[in-house]
Amino acid sequence: MADESSRRGDSYGTEAILEFVHKVHSGHDEFLQRAFDAPALHDMPPIQVSPSEGKLLGLLIRLSGAKKVVEVGTLAGYSALWIARHLPPEGHIWTIELEPKHVDVAQSTLKAAGVADRVTILEGPALGILEILVKHGPFDAVFVDADKGNYDHYGRWAAKNLRVGGLLVADNAFYFKGLMDDTPEAAAMRRFHQETARAFDSVCIPTPDGMVVGLLKLRS
Ligand SMILES: C[S@@+](CC[C@H](N)C(=O)[O-])C[C@H]1O[C@@H](n2cnc3c(N)ncnc32)[C@H](O)[C@@H]1O
Repeated sequence: MADESSRRGDSYGTEAILEFVHKVHSGHDEFLQRAFDAPALHDMPPIQVSPSEGKLLGLLIRLSGAKKVVEVGTLAGYSALWIARHLPPEGHIWTIELEPKHVDVAQSTLKAAGVADRVTILEGPALGILEILVKHGPFDAVFVDADKGNYDHYGRWAAKNLRVGGLLVADNAFYFKGLMDDTPEAAAMRRFHQETARAFDSVCIPTPDGMVVGLLKLRS
């Protein structure tokens, strides 16, 4: 039988362990399951956060007391549903999505889950929509989960439009193992890390693809 250190060094039991902890701590009711299954059902890329990441996001929203939240990258509304469920009754999330089909699927997912009144889905390229959203700020939390080559822009927008102490969360911060590559997108992601670490009290949690979490120090 393998000792503890050799078991830690390989992937023994990893899938079963993940399935167990997702289910025990971050279990789905029918609406979360519907949102999670929607991309595969509707021929969309199944690139939503994991159940544990979704629950973590929800807990961070609740812990930070966030009422006004912006999400960049809706897909089918899975992470938006986790966020919406952890907002106070007067809370609101504006979520931005480029693809009309994703918007349609997310709209029906979120309506079925009974949170449509606290979620606004905005269709279009995030860089433009964020400028329109400025008038609703300052915000309490921003979750970035869209095109990786623009993460530096999204981070800068968050530093300008969050309240001091506001929460920034960004998924895929390891850029699918390509963070240190010699590409413009990888360079943008490295800039995002560096600028975020200056403006926020931040950490990059080594989730499977890296998740940055930060609290804004000073508005820029
Ligand atoms: C990783 S998925 C979002 C997953 C979602 N946050 C979740 O966990 O359920 C990224 C989404 O961002 C959208 N997207 C990509 N580039 C975008 C852009 N420039 N503006 C707005 N949305 C964009 C994609 O169409 C896709 O639906």
